[in-house]
Amino acid sequence: MIQLWETALLLALATCSSAQSGEIFQFDQALSTLNQALVSNTGSTGGEVGYRREIHALQENEDEWNIYLLGFARFKEVEDSEPMSYYQIAAIHGQPYVSWDNDEPCDGCSSSGYCTHQSTLFPTWHRAYMALFEQALSLNAMSVAKQVTGNERGRYVRAAQCLRLPSWDWANLPLETADSFPRVFTDEEMLVSTPSGRANITNPLKSYVFRPNEDHSFMNANETYRRRNFTLSDILQLRADLWATLSSAQTYPDFSTEARLDGAGKGTESLNPSNLDAIHDHVHVLVGGNMSVVTSGF
Ligand SMILES: *[C@@H]1O[C@H](CO)[C@@H](O)[C@H](O)[C@H]1NC(C)=O
Ligand SMILES: *[C@@H]1O[C@H](CO)[C@@H](O)[C@H](O)[C@H]1NC(C)=O
Ligand SMILES: *[C@@H]1O[C@H](CO)[C@@H](O)[C@H](O)[C@H]1NC(C)=O
Ligand SMILES: *[C@@H]1O[C@H](CO)[C@@H](O)[C@H](O)[C@H]1NC(C)=O
Repeated sequence: MIQLWETALLLALATCSSAQSGEIFQFDQALSTLNQALVSNTGSTGGEVGYRREIHALQENEDEWNIYLLGFARFKEVEDSEPMSYYQIAAIHGQPYVSWDNDEPCDGCSSSGYCTHQSTLFPTWHRAYMALFEQALSLNAMSVAKQVTGNERGRYVRAAQCLRLPSWDWANLPLETADSFPRVFTDEEMLVSTPSGRANITNPLKSYVFRPNEDHSFMNANETYRRRNFTLSDILQLRADLWATLSSAQTYPDFSTEARLDGAGKGTESLNPSNLDAIHDHVHVLVGGNMSVVTSGF
């Protein structure tokens, strides 16, 4: 098993650009390899799979960062009637409770969305969900790349093949000079390279602007945005929660979900305090997407 992992790892290293020194630790490597089990097709041939990098590390890779922004911007332009549109995929995560790809609730089931909060299914549900998001990003990055003509085309296609959805390490202590909350989520514009030169585009990571016909009746604004209200004390709290989860949960149910499976009644007081489900919610509340008010993934 381990040998298989190593082979896959070497392949990945040999083909997509290798990690900057210090970026990839053994744990990340194992995770990255495991991630390949949740395959999203990046359009590459020959089995090459890039790493899922922390967003600041991705930023260091000029071509992948560029195709990430261009692909993300295109992703958000896809018509909301399409199952692979940003609107429909974001709506899987929470409000508005629209049916994804016409997959209606079963008879007698509530139409309160697909999310599996307060269940041991939550972490595994969320991983498959992110794989779908990554797949949509890849398709759009590749579409952008394939529109490029001339000498530059190979470079863009290559970057799209290697691109994977980055993570944000919210538990990382910021450098004293850096903002606690990454500016890449709040800057109005981003500088990108296009075949016809450098240009500023509206930062696709900053907000989602609903089209008038898209249901956003769950909030009294036309746009969601990331909140800057993420401080050092939030980071310290999240680190403490994470440590408590990793060090005190004795069973997978305790580790994975807020729900108590020991028969205790529902209600906030009887929920498990430290687990992946709770940390996930906490991050949403702190960074926006309006998870703070209602459960929306926008
Ligand atoms: C992009 O925006 C920045 C900041 O407003 C500006 O300094 C820069 O000249 C712009 N670049 C281009 C290519 O438009
Ligand atoms: C979140 O929803 C509330 C309630 O509808 C709204 O007032 C607020 O502007 C929204 N915030 C963001 C960040 O979208
Ligand atoms: C949202 O956009 C509509 C037009 O589509 C406008 O009438 C309305 O005032 C906007 N709402 C807010 C809160 O800006
Ligand atoms: C920032 O977070 C604090 C709690 O940590 C909250 O009381 C406050 O309302 C938040 N401010 C904004 C602008 O969301």
